[in-house]
This record gives sequence, structure tokens and C-alpha cells, in this order.
Amino acid sequence: MDATAKRLLDWYDAHARDLPWRSPPGAPPPEPYRVWLSEVMLQQTTVAAVGPYFAKFLARWPTVMDLAVADDAEVMAAWAGLGYYARARNLLACARAVAARGGVFPDSEAALRELPGLGAYTAAAVAAIAFGERAAVVDANVERVAARLLALDEPLPAARSAIRAEVMRLTPAERPGDFAQAMMDLGSTVCTVRNPRCLLCPLAEDCEGRAAGPERFPVKPAKKARPARRGRAFWIERDGAVWLVRRAGKGMLGGMRALPDDGWAARGDGAGEPPLAGSWQAGGVVRHGFTHFDLELQLMLYSGSDWDSLPANTGEWWRLDRLEEAGLPTLFAKAARLALADKD
Ligand code: ADE
Ligand code: SF4
Repeated sequence: MDATAKRLLDWYDAHARDLPWRSPPGAPPPEPYRVWLSEVMLQQTTVAAVGPYFAKFLARWPTVMDLAVADDAEVMAAWAGLGYYARARNLLACARAVAARGGVFPDSEAALRELPGLGAYTAAAVAAIAFGERAAVVDANVERVAARLLALDEPLPAARSAIRAEVMRLTPAERPGDFAQAMMDLGSTVCTVRNPRCLLCPLAEDCEGRAAGPERFPVKPAKKARPARRGRAFWIERDGAVWLVRRAGKGMLGGMRALPDDGWAARGDGAGEPPLAGSWQAGGVVRHGFTHFDLELQLMLYSGSDWDSLPANTGEWWRLDRLEEAGLPTLFAKAARLALADKD
């Protein structure tokens, strides 16, 4: 085994974080279902945020077979608040594909990659952690550690192939899953974005970046500003209930319950029509950052009573005292809080 990998595994034996989806260092791996579920949740989401969702999903759907037969709407609602909702739709598609194989996950990186919605990162992580395959697991933490070890001057994303090659070279045939998680733990507790603790680092003697000023790595590409979009969301209330719609399957926040809106997701100009003609007043404004744009959502409050003109079968009246259970994504939960605060 490479000396750097050995030092990292020794450090992990003493310092591994105790996380609900993990086995202790050196112990047999957890069930593939737990590994897969946690890795899907952990993409773009912090360990602290994932904890309660992981527990909730496992309690509700203890096996991949249970998840495969779950109601789509229930899974989307349970995911509400975690963000990046395409992950929840892919999660279900993948669970169903695994169920079609008798509930058994494929046990190699290449075969895992064939499952719907399973990207390069997740396939490598599940292969290494659940099946002990020597696979290069590269998330943002691992990327940072590797770029610093090599003092890579090349900026992202071009540096990714060199980073990947280095991670593959370091990854041992023994305990590749522990190695991957050790890199993640080192990245989140020692080799942090700001003020890395090089004095406590088990890899300090292997690290080219330490002397060069580690915070410079990985070198970032020149930044593009995120474009701004505007939209409007419509609050229609009647007898202690609000009119909610379900968003179209494929688009932004697809499959989630929501307030009706003017089509900002597709048009981005906030110029679409409200679902009812008549009296509207401007409420507050909600700002929300998505991956590719920042949204400024103007809340519009309906003050008419022509509810019967709402197009039938496009939505439902949802009781305000049970709004928590609607599973609104964060953007619309913020808008609802604003509408309810405006009234008081
Ligand atoms: N981030 C993604 N996967 C992780 C894991 N298995 N442990 C800790 N952080 C992670
Ligand atoms: Fe990161 Fe510093 Fe360790 Fe290098 S020595 S891996 S920069 S913490």
C-alpha cells in the first residue's frame, strides 16, 4: 500500500466521524441500500442536513423493495427541504430498477453506473464503500485534498483528470471504502476550505501544497455571475385553505407541490398570467438561489372570490393548519410564510 494511503487509514482508525450510514473503520460494510441512499442525499448537501432525512427515509422505507413501491408524491414530500429534487425522482427510478433485479444492487462501479440517475460519483462511492472495489471517489472535499497534495496549478474543471488520476493512484486495494471516507473526513475537518490545520494533518509530509499556501488550491476558474430571474407566485386563500398545484414532472422542482406561478421556471421573465382574473395585490418578495440563477419571486395575494373559475383538476385546497404536511420545497415554503405573516 502507498505510504500516504497508509498514513491516512491510520488517522481514520483514530479519527473517523461516527455517522449513521457508516460502519466503524475496518468493520464489514453497511448494506448497499444504506450506502446508496446516504450518498445520493449527501451530494450537494451537508452531513448535518442529511442526518434527519436519512433516519426518516430508513424508518419509512427500510429496504430498497419498500422504496420501490412507495407513492411518488410521498417520496417527493419526504424529500422536501433537501433541495435538488431531480435527485428524489432519480432515487425512485433507481430503486425500481434495483427492485426489478430482485432487490440486489449490482456490485461493481461499471454496473452501478448503468442504473438510472446513478452518476460517476455515486457509482464509485457505492462500489468502494459497500462492495470494497478500488474505485476513485472524488467529491468536493476529496478534490480539495488532492489538489493541495499535488499543488496543482491547473484550474478547475480542467484539473479534474489529474485529480482523479491521483486519487486512483492513492486508493488502496484494501479498505478502499474507508480510504474514500477518510479523504472526505480529512477534507471536512482538517484540510478545510479556509485555514486548513496542516499542523494536525497526517499527510503533511506528503503535501506539496502546504508550503505553497494551501488555500490557493484548488485553483478556481474565473467566475461568471449567476443570472437573475424574476417570477410571481399566486396566493389564493379560501376559508382557511390555500390553492396548491403539483408541478410538472420534468421541469424545475418537478413533481413537488407548489403555489401556482407565472411560469418563471420556463420563461424567467415573470410575465405569465395569474390562474384567476381579477383582484391581486403585491405581497412581499422571496429571494432564492438555484444552481444556475438567482430568483426574485414576487408574491401576489388574491383578494377576489371568484374561486369557482379556477381550472378544475389542476390543484387542490390545502388546509392552512396542515400546511407543514404539504411538502412544499423551500422556495414556496418561504413564500407561504410571507403570505401568512402579511395577514397578521
Ligand atoms: N459526503 C458524501 N459521502 C460521505 C460519506 N460517506 N461520509 C461523509 N461525508 C460524505
Ligand atoms: Fe491539506 Fe495541509 Fe494536510 Fe496538505 S498538509 S493535505 S494542505 S491539511
